[in-house]
Amino acid sequence: MKVLVVFGTRPEAIKMCPVIKKLKEKSNIICRACLTGQHEEMLNQVMETFDIKSDYNLHVMTERQTLAGVSARIMTGLQEIYEKEKPDVVLVHGDTTSSYIAAVCAFYQHIPIGHVEAGLRTYQLQSPFPEEFNRQSIDMISDIYFAPTKLAQQQLLNEGKNAAHIYVTGNTAIDALKDTIRESYYSSDLEWCKDSRFILLTAHRRENIGEPMYHMFAAVRKIIENNPDVKVIYPIHKNPQVRKIAEEVFAGCDRIRMVEPLDVMDFHNYMKQSYLILTDSGGIQEEAPALGIPVLVMRDTTERPEGVEAGILKLVGTDEACIIKEAEQLLWDKAMYEKMSQAKNPYGDGHASERIVECLLKEFGG
Ligand code: UD1
Ligand code: UDP
Repeated sequence: MKVLVVFGTRPEAIKMCPVIKKLKEKSNIICRACLTGQHEEMLNQVMETFDIKSDYNLHVMTERQTLAGVSARIMTGLQEIYEKEKPDVVLVHGDTTSSYIAAVCAFYQHIPIGHVEAGLRTYQLQSPFPEEFNRQSIDMISDIYFAPTKLAQQQLLNEGKNAAHIYVTGNTAIDALKDTIRESYYSSDLEWCKDSRFILLTAHRRENIGEPMYHMFAAVRKIIENNPDVKVIYPIHKNPQVRKIAEEVFAGCDRIRMVEPLDVMDFHNYMKQSYLILTDSGGIQEEAPALGIPVLVMRDTTERPEGVEAGILKLVGTDEACIIKEAEQLLWDKAMYEKMSQAKNPYGDGHASERIVECLLKEFGG
């Protein structure tokens, strides 16, 4: 069996590298990895950490890239690779433009598609944008579905997808954590936070860039000003539009450290040692519950309601007053904090990648 794994951004790499590792362990599987290069530095960081070499890299990233530009460059590049490799299955992940275009290209060439992290939904096409469209579209043309949770499976079934090809595997993000968390982890940033409560911040969602992001960051600044024992570390996304807003709002604030995107190993350990996480990220909503760290999700919708239901995630939107109120409640109300941090992780046992490989062997043979 030949599997071609295609991806292009940091979160896809973090969740696909554990699968590639397991595929490469099997002597009856040929595994090829193709990077679109939708991300550059942030993607390379992950490939280095997991020590995985790609077979192809389309290097499509440009500064301030548009969805159409990225899509066109990936589509043109992949056509030739699919023709040359003739894989039995193309494996894509989640909801990015890279995943969507990789799936469409496979569909055009009648190559079966396996979708890792299938079935996540908000059912609101503008939120997150364009990811909700991407994930629904990928599922429309996929042949095999790797649903991380029972809820995701149920959503696929509700849409009439073939039950015989839907597998509940857990989320591969939890597999990745097994390789990255260190008991005695040290960094100078964490040393800086040692006598404070450390909030970890990330933000990058396309639909938040502009007005909502100004409010999110203004809220964080206010939380710092109101609470002298709080320090914030913000590994800032490479997107120049995000950087511009952050630099404006956080200017002169000495209890926030804006650092370059962290290597995934470092980031997971920063998460583990944080008091609270403020984010609009998707993947962090899956990882934090496995580490027992409460998360305030600065978005209006989430496709990961399992964590909200478990009690470790709280959807707080992008309204400044609301973010401040929720964060300060967690800073001041110990009982509430304890309850939130003790919730059970709903995203799997860290063996999702093995399950995905076994399912592929069952579907396509050795
Ligand atoms: C993309 C995904 C989003 C995912 C996010 C993970 C889509 C539509 N969006 O959004 O679902 O949550 O990745 O981070 O697929 N840049 C760099 N270096 C990098 C990466 C990005 O300089 O390594 C800059 C470039 O200027 C680029 C910009 O960031 O143009 C935006 O990157 P892009 O992939 O278009 O959007 P993300 O917000 O990263
Ligand atoms: N992450 C990382 N370094 C950072 C910030 C995040 O390695 O500085 C990891 C994080 O652990 C998670 C993933 O990147 O696995 C989330 O990526 P992002 O928020 O960019 O995308 P999303 O999950 O929202 O698609």
